[in-house]
Amino acid sequence: MTIKDIQDEILRLKKENDICILAHCYQSPEILEVADYTGDSFGLSVSASKVENKTVLMCGVRFMAETCKILSPDKKVILSNASAGCPMAEMMDKDVISEVKKQFPDYTVVAYINTTSELKTVCDVCVTSSSALKICSRLDADKILFIPDCNLGAWIAKQLPEKEFKLLNGGCPTHARMSADDVKKAKEAHPEALFLVHPECRQEVVELADYVGSTTGIMKFAGESNAREFIIGTENSIVTHLQLEYPDKCFYPLSKDCICHNMKATTLVDVLNCCKGVGGEVIELESDVMQGAKRCIDKMIELG
Ligand code: 13P
Ligand code: SF4
Repeated sequence: MTIKDIQDEILRLKKENDICILAHCYQSPEILEVADYTGDSFGLSVSASKVENKTVLMCGVRFMAETCKILSPDKKVILSNASAGCPMAEMMDKDVISEVKKQFPDYTVVAYINTTSELKTVCDVCVTSSSALKICSRLDADKILFIPDCNLGAWIAKQLPEKEFKLLNGGCPTHARMSADDVKKAKEAHPEALFLVHPECRQEVVELADYVGSTTGIMKFAGESNAREFIIGTENSIVTHLQLEYPDKCFYPLSKDCICHNMKATTLVDVLNCCKGVGGEVIELESDVMQGAKRCIDKMIELG
């Protein structure tokens, strides 16, 4: 069997079984090719709220499948690989944040979508990297407790000096691997290249960027730019996607280590098995968790 044979079988089965496949852009090209919708976290949330199929297969990580279930409670939502979690999302829980809130009672709690559904129930609004600035500036609140990513939070806080931000010490272990020294080396190797970076990276890295944005923001910028070469400071799958999309331009990873093993946990065979009904994990959430988290996600979609 070839990759193409597996993809053809997935396309046949998803039609036969009325399955919609959503895939985050950090997934591999062979998975993105069989997906109905691809995008960043915000784009996938919006797509998840509009899907009409009976079953949704989320190729990404657990919090994305939970978001999908919350927005489509009557649908069967499957996480493509049960081991695909997000370490950042699991870093802080509801009890910890409830205690922190007691110390800052007049702060609005803004939760990055990379959080568990249970944690979202004690937060006021969700954001993604592509919607955080817009939502924080539109929020009718001038004191914001931003969780869990202190790098994304610091980047937003810098752009909204009129608001007061409290940040906690959380973040993405994948993006945190890259340093200013990596940027220096990459720029020496590719002096003509623009440096595009995700705001989950450390501040010393973000400060050196020519463009800062979400995964789809980076892809759009690279496509529209007149520049020919780019150093990419996010998960390395984006380097491959960009190279496939824009063969006349050159893309270089900031670091060979920027690989999210959780995003890479899903294989094409996992997708095939899920379409056959023998793989993945069907997402089930308590109804009070669904309701509490939905309030937060709906507000994100409304403001974003
Ligand atoms: P975006 O999809 O919002 O760019 O976030 C990247 C990410 O790390 C997803 O987990
Ligand atoms: Fe989580 Fe970071 Fe992986 Fe995104 S890249 S899923 S934030 S660990």
